[in-house]
Amino acid sequence: MRIVLLGGAGYLGTAATRHLTGLGHHVTVVDGLIYQRDDDPARLLPTASAFVHADLRDPTALRAAAVGADAVVHLGGLVGEPACAVDEDLAVELNYASPVLAAEAARAAGVAHYVFFSSCSVYGSREGTVDEDTEPHPLGIYARSKVLAERRLASLLDGGALTVLRLATVHGLSPRQRLDSVVNRMTAQAAVTGRIPLNGGGQRRPLVHVADVADVLARVIAAPAGHRVFNIGSDRENYTIAEIAQTVAQTLPGTRIERGPERDEADARDYRTSFARLTAAFPHPCPTPLAHGIGEVADALKDKRLGDPGLPEYDNFKGLNASLAAGRICALRTSDCTRLHAEYANTTWSPR
Ligand SMILES: NC(=O)c1ccc[n+]([C@@H]2O[C@H](COP(=O)([O-])OP(=O)(O)OC[C@H]3O[C@@H](n4cnc5c(N)ncnc54)[C@H](O)[C@@H]3O)[C@@H](O)[C@H]2O)c1
Repeated sequence: MRIVLLGGAGYLGTAATRHLTGLGHHVTVVDGLIYQRDDDPARLLPTASAFVHADLRDPTALRAAAVGADAVVHLGGLVGEPACAVDEDLAVELNYASPVLAAEAARAAGVAHYVFFSSCSVYGSREGTVDEDTEPHPLGIYARSKVLAERRLASLLDGGALTVLRLATVHGLSPRQRLDSVVNRMTAQAAVTGRIPLNGGGQRRPLVHVADVADVLARVIAAPAGHRVFNIGSDRENYTIAEIAQTVAQTLPGTRIERGPERDEADARDYRTSFARLTAAFPHPCPTPLAHGIGEVADALKDKRLGDPGLPEYDNFKGLNASLAAGRICALRTSDCTRLHAEYANTTWSPR
């Protein structure tokens, strides 16, 4: 199949490119490399069939990429609340305007399948177990932009070409490494300092390994399209933040967990997630346990395949600030973006 990965040079996209090309697919990556200083797609994406350096808010580039594609996958975006809070206008353009413009391009080109990467963060803070029918409860700009994009895409791609993947928090090793999400961050802290600072730790968080996300994406693309939403992860991989710290400490003996205030007020997300719908559709998805991701990131730090974990390239918040300072990215306010800013601003968030 001919697959287009928008934002395919990122943490998930580089792993997905390797997996999909390994299965024999033709993969075109479109990415603006907004975090990379060396702009070297050959290093990040040695197996990609084609690479297009473009901004995912550029309708001309999106239309050109969509022509002849069997599937268009949107995994570009500004990930996480800290990065989105840096510049809300930019977050709306990358997380709402870009996926909408890409879907308009895919629809015009007659692409059969559009896959949108969303997040379990849309569930916010909930009692009990959430599933895809649970009303989202976004707590910040990131989660809100994802929910509103999901809804807009569902109305735009009315014919059933859309699949939404709501990912658990991802861990493990990828060609474009991130060390800013909870497991990878704790692993880097333990590997480098021997300590994990822990505030509270009672919040629940589902996890998934990066290679399992790539595998699920391949299976979703191979299946017929139809308007579907899937949580991506495994029922076994629901943890509390404290359990994640303990698993890192067990995997890296000698690690000390340093407890701070009772609750991390900066991140109130707290949910246990059901992955029953995914398991019913695709047998044995996401089998990789947490300890595996911890071990491979720790090994890569130990044998210097990864550099100093404090570098901005491993952290989207720091990387975004470096990119903004260097002029590599900014809110564009093109006519298309202005139209979609207005649409976003006029969409009052309300549960269905
Ligand atoms: N990593 C996780 O834990 C996680 C969890 C839930 C959901 N997701 C979702 O999965 C997707 C991929 O996440 P990731 O961890 O790979 O993120 P990432 O930041 O590593 O990758 C995003 C890529 O998109 C590109 N990009 C962003 N805006 C662009 C623009 N306007 N023009 C051109 N390129 C642009 C960046 O250069 C980068 O290569 C995102 O939509 C994210 O919200 C990720």
